[in-house]
Amino acid sequence: MHRRKFLLLAALPALATACGSGARTDDLRPQGTLTFGNRLRIPPLAKSTVDAAGVRRFELAMQRGQSELLPGKPTATWGFNGPHLGPTIRARRGETVRMAVTNRLGELSTVHWHGMRLPAKMDGGPHQPIVPGATWTPQWTIDQPAATSWYHPHVHGSTAMQVYRGLAGMFILDEPGGPPLPERYGVDDVPLILQDKRFTPDGSLDGDPLKGTFGILGNHILVNGTYDPYLEVSTELVRFRILNGSNARMYHVRFADRRRFHVVGNDAGLLEAPVELDQVSLTPGERIEIVVRFSAGEQVVLSSVGGSADIDAGDFDVLKIVAAPRLAASPALPARLAENRVEVPADARVRRFRLNGHDAINGKEMDMSRIDEVVPAGAREIWEIENNVYAHNFHIHEVAFRVLDVNGGPPPAYASGPKDTVYVPGKSKVRLAVQFGQHTDPSTPYMYHCHILRHEDSGMMGQFVIVEPGTEAQVPRTIAGADHAHHGSAPGN
Ligand code: C2O
Ligand code: CU
Ligand code: CU
Repeated sequence: MHRRKFLLLAALPALATACGSGARTDDLRPQGTLTFGNRLRIPPLAKSTVDAAGVRRFELAMQRGQSELLPGKPTATWGFNGPHLGPTIRARRGETVRMAVTNRLGELSTVHWHGMRLPAKMDGGPHQPIVPGATWTPQWTIDQPAATSWYHPHVHGSTAMQVYRGLAGMFILDEPGGPPLPERYGVDDVPLILQDKRFTPDGSLDGDPLKGTFGILGNHILVNGTYDPYLEVSTELVRFRILNGSNARMYHVRFADRRRFHVVGNDAGLLEAPVELDQVSLTPGERIEIVVRFSAGEQVVLSSVGGSADIDAGDFDVLKIVAAPRLAASPALPARLAENRVEVPADARVRRFRLNGHDAINGKEMDMSRIDEVVPAGAREIWEIENNVYAHNFHIHEVAFRVLDVNGGPPPAYASGPKDTVYVPGKSKVRLAVQFGQHTDPSTPYMYHCHILRHEDSGMMGQFVIVEPGTEAQVPRTIAGADHAHHGSAPGN
């Protein structure tokens, strides 16, 4: 146990008991028992202004507050510009954006732009701490394909707790001239942030995100912070941007009537062509964009079915969708979407990563002062992830990758990429074709890690720098004075 955490629990024995519920996976409400009584919240679009230099400016304030997540019960939660979750940021390729992120949490945090291709100093990982009261102002030019990204804290040791309390938001990137897909936010382009929580009888968040093999697996499913939700739709086709923003839970999403739909996007951008199927899976941090057809006046339930990976137990309902008595016509889905395929040369460099237990990669726990890998700018490499234990996943900052194979076989077409986070099932080997970016900085690392936050926080994370090609050998492998590891307090606080 980390020292500060130990001291805290020793000082407050009552809290230690309150946090003892661990990670049961099997006590979700069974399918058919929700009433779908709450209108799905749609996170507001973040306001922005364009300054004289043409820079689009956003402001985010990280704050504490109270939310009514369960009817009639106040829950202490954290959010951006509000008590829970954050606004959806939307920007276009080619725009320069500037974020002013103010930390009003009273404890150290960071904000990482998950999925964004940007200079390491703007990445918002553990090396860009925002101390209480401070404002951090990263700025970068968006130069990547249309995608559904997101943002969340990334303080080493307390990411799990800060995200669990509610710090997460969506970041939609558009690309001018892209294929005609539904894109009216909240109308036919709808974010679905899937998260699972546990509550004490008085409505406080329960569970210790750093306990047990996987941390928290909740027994209440929230979509955009709404428990037991329904959504009214008014168009024939609706695009859902599904984000798994959970600490550990994996979802296998499908409709109760097993209707078929089209997957159009993965983590890092649009697929080459829509893929038709009736079920998709997401591990924490992954995003999938689907387009679904509705008939006037119908109702259908979106649910998740259980698997055998420990993090995906139980069949449960997620959201009821109610179609209006008349639906506006939607344009047909385009046959081709984008050219985003990541290719690697035949002699590509191969790097190997072995996931150990729940707290190390290649036998090493995360160390903020150690550079694990040095990658030349623009490199295309094969990263091989080997997992001899239970379920994990793997996320790489600043890249887009394609999944080459899982245990030697091809991944499902919808899940091959472009991606930045991939499921690595227990006892399996996954190979990725990875495209690295052009922003060089030999002294500021990007992260790669398991996105099960309990694992990330306990050290299943490594650091890489991107450098000018040819300078790899000169790059220092240690970072002086880098220790911003931080351990926060229990969820009730
Ligand atoms: Cu979504 Cu390194 O994180
Ligand atoms: Cu990331
Ligand atoms: Cu893991």
